[in-house]
Amino acid sequence: MTPLLTTDAIVVESYVGPKDERSLADDVLDGLTRPFKELPPKHFYDARGAELFDRICELPEYYPTRAERAILEERSADIVEATGAAELVELGSGTAAKTRLLLRAMADAGTLRRYVPLDVTESMVLTCADELVDEFPGLRVHGIVGDFERHLTHVPPPDGPRIVAFLGGTIGNFTPGTRRRFLRAIGRLLRPGVDHLLLGTDLVKDPAVLEAAYDDSAGVTAEFNRNVLHVINRELDANFDVGAYEHVAFFDREREWIEMRLRAERRMDVHVGKLGLDVAFAPREELRTEISAKFTVKRLTADLAASGLELRDVLTDPDELFALSLSGRPAG
Ligand code: SAH
Ligand code: TRP
Repeated sequence: MTPLLTTDAIVVESYVGPKDERSLADDVLDGLTRPFKELPPKHFYDARGAELFDRICELPEYYPTRAERAILEERSADIVEATGAAELVELGSGTAAKTRLLLRAMADAGTLRRYVPLDVTESMVLTCADELVDEFPGLRVHGIVGDFERHLTHVPPPDGPRIVAFLGGTIGNFTPGTRRRFLRAIGRLLRPGVDHLLLGTDLVKDPAVLEAAYDDSAGVTAEFNRNVLHVINRELDANFDVGAYEHVAFFDREREWIEMRLRAERRMDVHVGKLGLDVAFAPREELRTEISAKFTVKRLTADLAASGLELRDVLTDPDELFALSLSGRPAG
């Protein structure tokens, strides 16, 4: 652990190397040498990736952010009343844009004590810690720069009734088995009968609407998808011809998830300098970069139950595009 910042109101700890190079190296070595090439999604989010993701959230086609925000605008006070939350732990917190609505409701209820953001991107954790202690007098921030798949155990013990928020539909980026394992790990941060998980899930809907959200007409999502190749070029001294990979996004109706891929437009021979690795792409060969699972309330309930969590409430926007659910470990 490296302490990055300590003031009266702020502690920020880091559990990743400056660029978490090792994990990128492992993932590239592993993912690009498989029979079906694949990379985990967390490597999209360098500074440029984070900026592109912010632009995705503003796109007319990308409805999840607006729908989730609408639910929080409408229901944050109810969520705070139902949970009595004094502390908000947020996984994959990013810029904490929507989180402010929850923190505001906690402050208005007079319960707000602490915010614990956890994100892989160091600059986001530092910036939002600074901004939030200014915005919410008396708030303490315990920031964690880390990987939520590896560093959940570094979340400090609760300071009052806790909400763990996992927003943006990011839970959909896990494959089904891993998703349940992850929910179980989140459960360990919750005291039975006291603390709550607030989970954002995108809902199953018209495939055309879903596909447009991941393949916008301005090409921002395509840029975001290709950004992972820029990251590998820079961090691992590789020579991907980034412009020669086509963005592919489609809804798998069977599995009910969006799949994002990069398709090599011709044969490519890529050298990854720092790994001494040569990787060949056949013409039109695809690299899977992300899935984004879409939910029904039935699937959500089953996943939570299989992970030892009990669904308490499901909140949706008027068009039922997105759901925020509140769940917890059963008391006793
Ligand atoms: N919660 C925000 C951001 C969602 S984007 C919202 O709802 O708009 C996903 C966020 O998760 C990014 O900020 C990214 O940096 C972070 N992230 C992705 N994979 C991660 C991982 N494995 N560990 C920690 N943070 C991760
Ligand atoms: N968690 C977001 C989602 O699944 C991330 C995301 C949105 C994304 N658009 C993307 C990831 C495009 C990769 C490519 O909705």
